Amino acid sequence: MRPFDDIDRLADAEVLDKVAAPLRDAVHKVLTRQDVKDALHGVWMGHPLHPVLAQLTIGSFASAGILDVSPRTRRPATALILVGLVSAVPTAAAGWADYADGHEEQQRVGVVHAAANGAMLAGYAASLAARARGRGFRGALWGWAALAVGTVGASLGGHMAYHQAMGANHAEGYPHIGPGDWTDVGPVTDLPEGEPARRIVGDVGVLVVKRGEQVHALADRCAHASAPLHEGDLVDGDGRGECVVCPWHGSVFRLDTGSVVHGPATAPQPTFRTRVRDGRLELAVTGHAGVPAS
Ligand code: FES
Repeated sequence: MRPFDDIDRLADAEVLDKVAAPLRDAVHKVLTRQDVKDALHGVWMGHPLHPVLAQLTIGSFASAGILDVSPRTRRPATALILVGLVSAVPTAAAGWADYADGHEEQQRVGVVHAAANGAMLAGYAASLAARARGRGFRGALWGWAALAVGTVGASLGGHMAYHQAMGANHAEGYPHIGPGDWTDVGPVTDLPEGEPARRIVGDVGVLVVKRGEQVHALADRCAHASAPLHEGDLVDGDGRGECVVCPWHGSVFRLDTGSVVHGPATAPQPTFRTRVRDGRLELAVTGHAGVPAS
């Protein structure tokens, strides 16, 4: 049995749903503003925010642990612990936002990840309290213990990102496996007018929307967590053109560029170039989205 196989057991432990589900619902109740959710997911920078902030938090704590080895560097260690505790606030907020839009297996591991991190923060608070009373060595011991617990929490977070693909771009493969050459997908008249449809081109599914002479085509697999976008609704994207809303967690993508209007997705949908030859629709995958389909 490899150590990380045990984490898979956590993901399957339905008993954790007793905690995970109410927490997910509570986050949804608190986080109601779309602009706040988008900011916490990292839509504004095109990358999940939580792992970026976590580097500052964990980096500060780990550095403090090294400085604490010598009594002469306890003061800068204390300053770093303060930085870690302050930065933990936005780090945790971004993590909870992502958590609420995860799937059940991710949320089961997520509650244990959060519990370990909560214990770590409590340990660092005790460390600061000891230092404030002039007990530097006791403060260092609290800090090292908290760092050990935080390492477990960080490992679980890494497992969620790398093994469970939380925060990963689930449409990343399209430009690699979608056909770069024009590929026939059938008569253009077979497409419904102004409604999402699904076509297979090469080995991949594509969301196709025809409106008059214009045809838009995006990767059908949502970049956030692989939902079938052709089952979503079409909406006006806050004045940014026609968009599709993901049926699972509500990410909104522009049809013309695939760019993200609202999260939780942070990566754009890959697009396809479209053309009609002899009444038949042909598609060819572009590079990553952001390049308008033509
Ligand atoms: S799968 Fe989550 S927003 Fe699309």
